Amino acid sequence: MPFVTTPDQVTLAMLELAQVGPADHVIDLGSGDGRIVITAAKRFGARGLGVEIVPELVRKSRELARAAGVAERVEFREQDLFATDLGRATVVTMYLLPAVNLQLRPRLLALAPGTRIVSHDWDLGDWQPERTVTVDAPDKAVGREKLSRIHLWIVPAAVHGTWCNAGRRLEIVQRFQAFSAALSATASPVPLVFDGRIDGTTLRANGMASLELRLEGDALRARPGDGATAAAWPAEALFRRAAGRSC
Ligand SMILES: C[S@@+](CC[C@H](N)C(=O)[O-])C[C@H]1O[C@@H](n2cnc3c(N)ncnc32)[C@H](O)[C@@H]1O
Repeated sequence: MPFVTTPDQVTLAMLELAQVGPADHVIDLGSGDGRIVITAAKRFGARGLGVEIVPELVRKSRELARAAGVAERVEFREQDLFATDLGRATVVTMYLLPAVNLQLRPRLLALAPGTRIVSHDWDLGDWQPERTVTVDAPDKAVGREKLSRIHLWIVPAAVHGTWCNAGRRLEIVQRFQAFSAALSATASPVPLVFDGRIDGTTLRANGMASLELRLEGDALRARPGDGATAAAWPAEALFRRAAGRSC
């Protein structure tokens, strides 16, 4: 991955897409001259960390941070991005290569639910982004079309498996932020089957606006829907993970 900068208007668009704000801790993996983290601090009030393997670029980033008046809120480390602890990140930004993105994907998926990930140009394989935006980039150093694509992912809670609540069993099959689920109740012979999307810790069923599950610690709190769902799911319920495959 050579050093190629993200143009300023693309940097802004990346941070806006992730809705970066003062409560955020932005980690840029392969931070180059530090512009993404410095802009996150200066324009959006965030804190941040840039990791970069080229020492000269780390020195330059620190100088630019001082010049921008944000040296207190950002840190630049000469460090291999693969050895970087991402645990504090609420937002991860990347302008890397497709193969590197894929190598990082398991670690990104293991971040806290709700963590936003923004990548310049390259995607994360079959983990579909929540949104993709195209930005004019007339001063982009690479490519002929002078456009940048930026992608946003939101880390989904890991909910795949069997969940139990007195007399009810909820089987969830998860693929990234998409899920399908079957709720069986001893009282009802027909399982309630639904699918939907996971937004951080919240699971929303497609076409059943009021049916919602939320991961709270290691339990899933389920709010029943109306109409057809109410029979199988009459009241709010707390589901716990099954020890085995059955409840
Ligand atoms: C395409 S540039 C992006 C720079 C900056 N993030 C931006 O968007 O302007 C990628 C950067 O990653 C750095 N890099 C490559 N491999 C790295 C690694 N293993 N650990 C840390 N940085 C690395 C390169 O030196 C380069 O500065």
